[in-house]
Amino acid sequence: MSDHTTMRGDTSWFVRDRFGLFIHWGLYAMPARHEWMRHNEKTPTADYDARYFTRFEPDLHDPAAWAQAAADAGMKYVVITAKHHEGFCLWDSKHTDYTAMNTPAKRDLIRPLLEAFRAKGLRVGLYYSLLDWHHPHCVIDPHIGPYRDHADRATMNEGRDQRIYAKYMRDQVTELLTGYGKIDIMWFDFSYPKPDGTGKGKDDWESDALLKVVRSLQPHIILDERLDLPYGWDIKTPEQYQPRRGVTVDGKPVVWEACQTFSGSWGYHRDETTWKSHEQLIHMLIDTVSKGGNLLMNVGPTARGEFDARALDRLAAYGRWMHHHQHTIYGCEAAPADIPTPEGCRLTWNPAKKRLYVHCLVWPFKYLWLEGLESRVEYAQFVHDGSEIRLQAQDWTASHAKEQAGLKDLLMLELPTPKPDAVVPVIELFLK
Ligand code: GLC
Repeated sequence: MSDHTTMRGDTSWFVRDRFGLFIHWGLYAMPARHEWMRHNEKTPTADYDARYFTRFEPDLHDPAAWAQAAADAGMKYVVITAKHHEGFCLWDSKHTDYTAMNTPAKRDLIRPLLEAFRAKGLRVGLYYSLLDWHHPHCVIDPHIGPYRDHADRATMNEGRDQRIYAKYMRDQVTELLTGYGKIDIMWFDFSYPKPDGTGKGKDDWESDALLKVVRSLQPHIILDERLDLPYGWDIKTPEQYQPRRGVTVDGKPVVWEACQTFSGSWGYHRDETTWKSHEQLIHMLIDTVSKGGNLLMNVGPTARGEFDARALDRLAAYGRWMHHHQHTIYGCEAAPADIPTPEGCRLTWNPAKKRLYVHCLVWPFKYLWLEGLESRVEYAQFVHDGSEIRLQAQDWTASHAKEQAGLKDLLMLELPTPKPDAVVPVIELFLK
C-alpha cells in the first residue's frame, strides 16, 4: 500500500523538458532591493504595509506577455511565488486579508498567470514560502525575519501559536490545489532546523501533514525537498551554484533542478550590477543538462508588472540559442560514463536517438579530439546549420598530431578556424 510518505510525483515530463522559469513577485518589487529587504532592514510590519501594501498597483501586468517571453526563451514550465517570506499572497485567499485583492491591484494575480502559461503550453508550478514574516501566529525565531533580534521578541511571541500557523498553511495549500486546476509542481521554501530547536523544521511546519494534503489533492505533483522530511519529495534543488556532478543521495542519482538568478537577488532589484552575460547563462543551461539536471532560471518582475529590459534581453539570448539548439537540451541527459568529455566542452546525450551533442564552450584550434569514439561515430554535423563535419581530419597536420598523441582510438574532427555564429556551437555525433 502506498501512503503519502511513499508516493512520488510524475517527473517523466520534467526530466525531458529541462528548462523552466522561476518568477519571484511580491510587494518587495517596490523597494526593489532584494526580496529579503524586510529581514535585511528589520522593517516593522506597519511600516512595510504602509509603504507598499497600500500602494501595490501593477498596472502594466500582462500575463500573456510573460508567458510569451518564457515560451520564446525555450522554457517549458514556470514556478510562480504564490507567497514569499513576506507573507503577502498574490491570489485571492480566503484565509487572510493580506492579499492582492486588498491592494490597489484588487485582483487575483495568480489565476490569470496560470491560465496564460498553460495557454502557451507550459506546465505550471507554485512556490509557497514556509517562512512567514506577517502571519500573527508564525513564531518569531532568533535566526530569520525582521524581528529576529528585537528586544521585545519574547513579548511579541506571547500568544503566538505555531499550530495555528501550520493549519493556515494547510488551508492555503488546499485552496491553491483545489481552486486553480492542475498544478504540476509544488515548491515549498524552506527549513532551517537547528540542533537546539531554535530554528524551524518539520515539526514547526507540521510537514508530514502538509505533505499528506498535497499528495491527497494532486498525487502527480512534483515536490521539492525543502520541507525537512527525509521522504516524500521528488527533486533536489541546489540554489545559486552549479553542482560539480549529477546530484546524488546516499550514492544514488536523484532528479534535480538547479535554480539560478540573472543578477543575484530573486525579487526585482533595481540597482544590482551583477547581471550575468548571455554566454554565462547559456553555459549554465548546458552545464546543468550535461550533468543530468534541470535549470530553473529566475525573473523578478517590476512593481508595475513587467519583466525589465535586462531580463528580457537575457531571455531573448536564450531564445536565439534555443531556436537552433533546443534538441541538444530537450530529451537529453548526461552522456554515458565511458565517453570522455573533450577539453573545453560539455556533452549531452539523447538516449532515444543515440545522438551525442558536443557543446564547445571554448572554440578549439581547428581540431576537436574525441577519444574512444573512432569506431562508434557514423556521422557528424553542426547543429546550428546542419552542415557536415567530415569524420577524421584529412590533412597531414592531423595525421602527425594523431601519431604524436599515441592513442589507438582517437577521432579528430576538422573544424572551421573561426567560431561559427552561435554563442555556443554544438557538434552532433550520430552514434552506432
Ligand atoms: C531562498 C531564499 C529565497 C528564494 C529561494 C529560491 O531560500 O530565501 O528568497 O526564494 O531561495 O530558491
